Amino acid sequence: MIRVENLVKEYKQYTRKEGFFSPIANLFNTEFKQKRVVDNLSFEVNEGELLGFIGPNGAGKSTTIKMLTGILVPSSGIVEVNGLIPHIDRKKYVQQIGVVFGQKTQLWWDVPVIDSLRLLRDIYKIPENLYKQNLELFSDLLSLEQFQHTPVRQLSLGQRMRADLAAALLHSPKILFLDEPTIGLDIVAKEKLRTFIKEINKKLKVTVLLTTHDMSDLEKLCDRMMIIDFGHAIYDGSVDDIRKKYGTNRILIIEFEEHIPDIDVPNAKLIKSEGKRKWYQFNRVTTSPSNLINFLGSKYSITDLTVDEPEIEEMVRNIYQGKYTTSEVF
Ligand SMILES: Nc1ncnc2c1ncn2[C@@H]1O[C@H](COP(=O)(O)OP(=O)(O)O)[C@@H](O)[C@H]1O
Ligand SMILES: [Mg+2]
Repeated sequence: MIRVENLVKEYKQYTRKEGFFSPIANLFNTEFKQKRVVDNLSFEVNEGELLGFIGPNGAGKSTTIKMLTGILVPSSGIVEVNGLIPHIDRKKYVQQIGVVFGQKTQLWWDVPVIDSLRLLRDIYKIPENLYKQNLELFSDLLSLEQFQHTPVRQLSLGQRMRADLAAALLHSPKILFLDEPTIGLDIVAKEKLRTFIKEINKKLKVTVLLTTHDMSDLEKLCDRMMIIDFGHAIYDGSVDDIRKKYGTNRILIIEFEEHIPDIDVPNAKLIKSEGKRKWYQFNRVTTSPSNLINFLGSKYSITDLTVDEPEIEEMVRNIYQGKYTTSEVF
């Protein structure tokens, strides 16, 4: 369905030569170099897949989505979706896809949601019965009726995302591209959105490609994930595998009533010690935090504790540096 081969995007980056202060001199002495933000990316997506792109800020996720949706022209390489080239066959292509950018609405700011949807119906020439059917479905799944008469600028971020999703799906596209759909949302709004994305993937068989930097989006939504770093895919595979391989270390942060010595704790590694606080790293598959807490609690008095999950940035860095092998977690 989607075929990406050796995709590259380079941006021109202008730098001024030092020593020239006049604007005219700058005009002639500005140099530019190419900054490669998507670097030989290749992958395929099959119909019905729900694929997540994850990676740190600036990794090239949005740039990739923009090329896949035809907004940006690749510097080189191939993007082909259902036999169409997004930036060339634009008119035909936009009928087949839905796009939502989490940081930017495609709805009219001062217009009630329902009016925006009617405008889109006319733009996309959506048949009346399909429009009605979809509106009903999304009202049901996204509770649109609660805010359909409210102008977009007055919506909460969660409501705005729901309205944007309805707008993107109004013409029943086969593929949905979502760039950071959960950014800035609270936990409840995130949950609702994830449920909806899953539903339209399973029930309406919409192929979904989303980007995020929230690992829990992927854990809850996707079967397959790609980790993108510096424009490369450094991992393409199942979410379960990555979690088993790389996401199993946890850090128990414990604060004691008084200073205690740096003692050894079975199945954990002391990685930091600061005043009355200690950081113990352990493997959540083989060790439960309660064992560590019981062990330490039987010897010393504990005043506070938390368990930290590894940040995706850290996992990506570790995978990238080849720090982990498949069976290792520490
Ligand atoms: N129009 C542009 N001109 C130059 N550099 C850009 C432009 N857009 C994005 N970049 C750079 O490309 C890199 C990748 O950006 P982006 O695709 O937005 O990453 P992500 O979505 O993974 O955070 C970043 O370093 C960003 O600063
Ligand atoms: Mg982005």
